[in-house]
Amino acid sequence: MRVLLPLIALYGVLGAHAGSCKSEHKTQKSCDADHVTGGGCVWCDIVDQAPFCTELSDARQWPKPPQMPPWQCDFPPQPPAYPTVTLNNGIEMPVMALGTGGYNDSFAADAVAKALSVGMNHVHSAYDYYNLAGVGEGLRTQPRNSIFLTTMTSPCVHAAKPQRNVTDPNACYTLTLNELEKTLELLDVEYVDLVMLHGPSEPFGYLGGCDAAVCALNRAQWKAYMEFYVAGKARAIGVSNFCQSCLDCLLDTNFSAVVPAVNQIQLHVGMGYDPEGLFSYCRKRGIITQAYSPLAAGEVVKDPLCQSVGKHYNKTGAEVGVRWVLQQPFSPALVVKSDKLKNLQADLDAFSWSLTDEDVATLSKATTPKGQQNGRPSWGCSK
Ligand SMILES: NC(=O)c1ccc[n+]([C@@H]2O[C@H](COP(=O)([O-])OP(=O)(O)OC[C@H]3O[C@@H](n4cnc5c(N)ncnc54)[C@H](OP(=O)(O)O)[C@@H]3O)[C@@H](O)[C@H]2O)c1
Repeated sequence: MRVLLPLIALYGVLGAHAGSCKSEHKTQKSCDADHVTGGGCVWCDIVDQAPFCTELSDARQWPKPPQMPPWQCDFPPQPPAYPTVTLNNGIEMPVMALGTGGYNDSFAADAVAKALSVGMNHVHSAYDYYNLAGVGEGLRTQPRNSIFLTTMTSPCVHAAKPQRNVTDPNACYTLTLNELEKTLELLDVEYVDLVMLHGPSEPFGYLGGCDAAVCALNRAQWKAYMEFYVAGKARAIGVSNFCQSCLDCLLDTNFSAVVPAVNQIQLHVGMGYDPEGLFSYCRKRGIITQAYSPLAAGEVVKDPLCQSVGKHYNKTGAEVGVRWVLQQPFSPALVVKSDKLKNLQADLDAFSWSLTDEDVATLSKATTPKGQQNGRPSWGCSK
């Protein structure tokens, strides 16, 4: 509660300066009348060819976005040419993003510019990809308000670069605030559309849940995120690689006013339907799951099952892999990666065709490829 009250007060101060942003925040997703199970917000998916509806139980599901600074009121975000998903604070996120992991600055600038040129207007970046300046350079090829820009900062306990073992929550909070500001500076933007904690403060490859010490560090980071959000420097805040126990810690009503909008986790053919129950868990709480490594870092491209299914549609194994992710009930968003115009266009083309339910079911039974972490959704936890 100590965390919450100052944020609510801050929200009140900002909210009192009602500016010219008059966006109507969508507050519900509902089934058609036949499938509504009760009052409140209901999300529906088609599972095994039948509607699967979950009623959201958490009263905080729909935190309003903070008062947006003037530059966003004057230049409101433009809708993309392909589907969007509504986040739990009402903002629209284009379903497909370009990922920039593994690129140096010049490759990142090139890939971002190419993706924007073919109409992909959601770009995903991270502090520890060490290419934010390159991403920023690519972004400047199009108006900022036509792009949905996502970034991530690193955990306080981190084995890879930026290597650190910051176990004091206060120090972790300060470090995160600084890293958030640094991220804006490197990207050379005034705000991002979504910022996510890259993972829980657990070692890479850890099996298990978030214990009390890690929960305290995650909360310290989330406190910094809420302040960044309330200040209008991010239009939404979320997490990545968070398992159920790590999310439970953030969702404690005595702690937090803001439910993560997104959990970015791994999903590709070979991991099956709803791995670890994490996707349905997020859906029940109004958290959008965004699949990373949808092609298992390239393994799906040559996967014999995907290639064989693709022949019936005149599509490649890669196209089948992307389409399978889009047709998963609990994963409406994804991050693809390519620096080739042809492949970026093929990835975007996934919105123009669909797999039959039978083919989706066949692909959902596959147990290979494994991708990262032996096919687990997160690299930082498993429960
Ligand atoms: N949050 C996290 O911890 C986390 C972890 C991993 C990844 N990510 C994000 O997710 C993004 C994507 O994941 P990923 O890098 O593991 O890879 P991925 O998207 O699973 O696969 C990328 C590979 O697929 C190929 N590809 C893409 N579209 C293709 C097409 N239409 N036809 C043929 N090949 C195609 C690319 O080759 P070409 O380049 O040759 O086209 C590239 O080698 C990353 O960049 C990163 O932003 C996040």
